[in-house]
Amino acid sequence: MTGPVEAAVDRKNILDWLGSLDLEAPISSNQPSVNVPFQRWFRFKEAYSPKLVLDVVDQLDELPSHVFDPFGGCGTSAITSQFLGIPSTVVEVNPFLADLTESKLCSYHVEKLKKYLSKIQYETLADIEPSLKVDSFPKTFCEPGRSGKWLYNKSSFKRILQYREAIERICDEKYRRFFTIILGSILVPISNIFISGKGRKYRQNWNSRQKSAIDVEQAFNEKAQQAISDVQKHSTKLEQYEILRGSCLDHAKNIDGFELSIFSPPYPNSFDYTDVYNVELWMLGYFKSNDSCKELRAKTLRSHVQVNRSYEVNFDIPKALDKVITGLKNIRNELWNKDIPEMVLAYFDDLFQLLTTMRGKISENGNIVIVVGDSAYKSIRIPVTTLLCELAQQAGFVVHENKVLRKLRTSPQQGGQASLDESMIWLKPELYD
Ligand SMILES: C[S@@+](CC[C@H](N)C(=O)[O-])C[C@H]1O[C@@H](n2cnc3c(N)ncnc32)[C@H](O)[C@@H]1O
Repeated sequence: MTGPVEAAVDRKNILDWLGSLDLEAPISSNQPSVNVPFQRWFRFKEAYSPKLVLDVVDQLDELPSHVFDPFGGCGTSAITSQFLGIPSTVVEVNPFLADLTESKLCSYHVEKLKKYLSKIQYETLADIEPSLKVDSFPKTFCEPGRSGKWLYNKSSFKRILQYREAIERICDEKYRRFFTIILGSILVPISNIFISGKGRKYRQNWNSRQKSAIDVEQAFNEKAQQAISDVQKHSTKLEQYEILRGSCLDHAKNIDGFELSIFSPPYPNSFDYTDVYNVELWMLGYFKSNDSCKELRAKTLRSHVQVNRSYEVNFDIPKALDKVITGLKNIRNELWNKDIPEMVLAYFDDLFQLLTTMRGKISENGNIVIVVGDSAYKSIRIPVTTLLCELAQQAGFVVHENKVLRKLRTSPQQGGQASLDESMIWLKPELYD
């Protein structure tokens, strides 16, 4: 590092924080940071590495005054900015992920965290019947489940609810959020499933390898101790952040302005974040009915077809994009969902609207860095990077850089080969005299 990062106020703290970063793994993935303090609280597979943010900042002339991330995820841009001493604004539509981000950014009294942990453990071990009932969750969550399959047996399910209720009794919102995230971080590891690609799969021999209430306790305790130690060793003093919960298409219009934006939107590959984080959303009480699930899906970027909604668009469609959409329409009958062509078009409309709004908010010397991957449906490749560069120019930006970071695998149906580009697009506002 030779630029602004070198000059950052608390450089030693940054180096300590990133001591366990894997420098060999691709920076557009979460692999380098699976053991990094804060990032290890919850394994968010779709994150990029803090190093990507540091590398970008280090190429600037000076530290930016404000960072904006419209697709916050687990908060990588914001937490890295915080270590650099830069205030940030993050938008995240998924309430669990928004809380995950906020739990990493706010400051705590370590003694209070320890006191609350003991209180939670004490209350949970009293083994009081939870007031939440099994039938307020999807049927598959608790034994006997549906079609002979379930996520948790009765004793571990009951223990999770006891933890949730003990956490809900904490009056101080930020401590309650901290322990909610800790509970969220163990939910999949102690379940009978794992997340594979876009969906859930049952573990091998899950039926004979059931977790018990004691496993729940151990996992919670370990995760809580780890997170408390991260807070104790690595916290920064800066607490200037803003988390906006909801869609960035709405919130971006109301932000004051920004100098740097680093973000990675969902890719138009039908990955449904609501489905992938469904276990956390239900078990932690963010979802109380199927309607809340539908409502969240309807607010997400139009990058998937899992909810019935309008795919209306309102932009000048570039020729290259039109050609891709015609190609998809020609093979509509072979696609696993008939709405895919319209969804892909709507995806670019959403990103165009966002970029247009951001053009009105960025400072003259500002920068936007986008990490995005190409997609493919059957024989039709969607060159997302190239199309987005064209739309960015249409929205009033110049493309400063466009470089491939790594090759992504196509879906198993397409052969699963590493052939899709994941790229970094660097934009600057086009300036007029
Ligand atoms: C690729 S992830 C971002 C990962 C992030 N860069 C990180 O390192 O953690 C995309 C995120 O966008 C969120 N998202 C989807 N639609 C959104 C919308 N309309 N507004 C805000 N966030 C949205 C998803 O919930 C997901 O967390």
